Amino acid sequence: MTAEGKNPVNVAVSGASGQISYSLLFRIASGDVFGKDTPVHLRLLDIPQAVSAAQGVAMELFDAAFPLVTGITVTDKAEEAFEDAQAVFLVGSKPRGKGEERSDLLAANGKIFGPQGKAINDHAAKDVRVLVVGNPANTNCLIAKASAPDIPANHFTAMTRLDHNRSLAQLSDKLGAPVKDFAKMTVWGNHSATQFPDVTYATVNGESVADKVDEKWLADEFRPRVAKRGAEIIEVRGKSSAASAASAAIDHMRDWFAGTPEGDWVSVSLPSDGSYGIDEGLVASVPCRSVNGEWEVVKDLEISDAQRKLIDANVEELRNEKKIVEDSGLI
Ligand code: NAD
Ligand code: LMR
Repeated sequence: MTAEGKNPVNVAVSGASGQISYSLLFRIASGDVFGKDTPVHLRLLDIPQAVSAAQGVAMELFDAAFPLVTGITVTDKAEEAFEDAQAVFLVGSKPRGKGEERSDLLAANGKIFGPQGKAINDHAAKDVRVLVVGNPANTNCLIAKASAPDIPANHFTAMTRLDHNRSLAQLSDKLGAPVKDFAKMTVWGNHSATQFPDVTYATVNGESVADKVDEKWLADEFRPRVAKRGAEIIEVRGKSSAASAASAAIDHMRDWFAGTPEGDWVSVSLPSDGSYGIDEGLVASVPCRSVNGEWEVVKDLEISDAQRKLIDANVEELRNEKKIVEDSGLI
């Protein structure tokens, strides 16, 4: 317990010496996730070859003299990193290069997430909240959850918040209204090129977004732009998105712990409960509200035939990824 009376939150971040973590860790340390009055103990995990670089990141965190940081652990052992962890960011994995799809990373990255899921199951707090960022994030999350039978299924999530934020930024630019005026954006499915960023229920200042944009712009510009933004960043920047990914991870975990704003929802990939015709267990993005620290799927939205087609195509892709990991014995 600290002088102020709050226990530190134990936060584990894998891939601690990588480019996303270089932004993510400093924002966690400054209170952007758990609040400006909540201390944190940071637990940095990386592979043996990168643990020295992770030590360097820890030295910089130390030098920044964040008032909220009560301790920093650096390790290459998952069991130690996840000990009593209440929040886990699974970032550590290889990013794709130019011309690759995220699913091309499954062979290299998939094997990371089973052992880490098991270490979380055996060592983390029983109510630990896990966000998988490493790609292909949805199926990596499926793999991790399969090795963590003692943790509630909806405490394993994968990140589609970056796609959600990208959608808001594109809409804000198109309609000339600030991001804060938009609500109820939805990204369905997989964090992949076939994802479905859907404005059907979205509002700007309480008015329907769908009434202000035409289907041609949605189909030809908005949806492909958002779905392929990761590849566009790689093309232009030469490396995959990092600070924007860290920012989305911060938004996701903050909302999970603190709740989503009244009258809004966000896009979260989590093991399906069968809602919206998505196979139970597949990790798919759906509209969610965070209530009392738990994600609740927004239910009973009406789905048109056109939406159905786009959701189904994407779910088919998730089924195929699941089959690949089943066939290769990863789950
Ligand atoms: P990076 O190469 O800069 O860093 C990756 C880090 O992970 C390295 O430090 C590496 O040593 C570490 N690592 C590798 N295997 C590990 C393991 N088994 N345990 C712990 N650490 C391990 O990559 P980055 O740019 O930080 O991206 C990380 C991942 O996040 C990539 O898979 C990337 O595609 C993904 N990503 C996802 C989203 C999203 O929206 N879901 C957005 C951006 C990036
Ligand atoms: C992104 O969406 O920026 C990340 O998933 C990185 C990538 O490979 O596109």
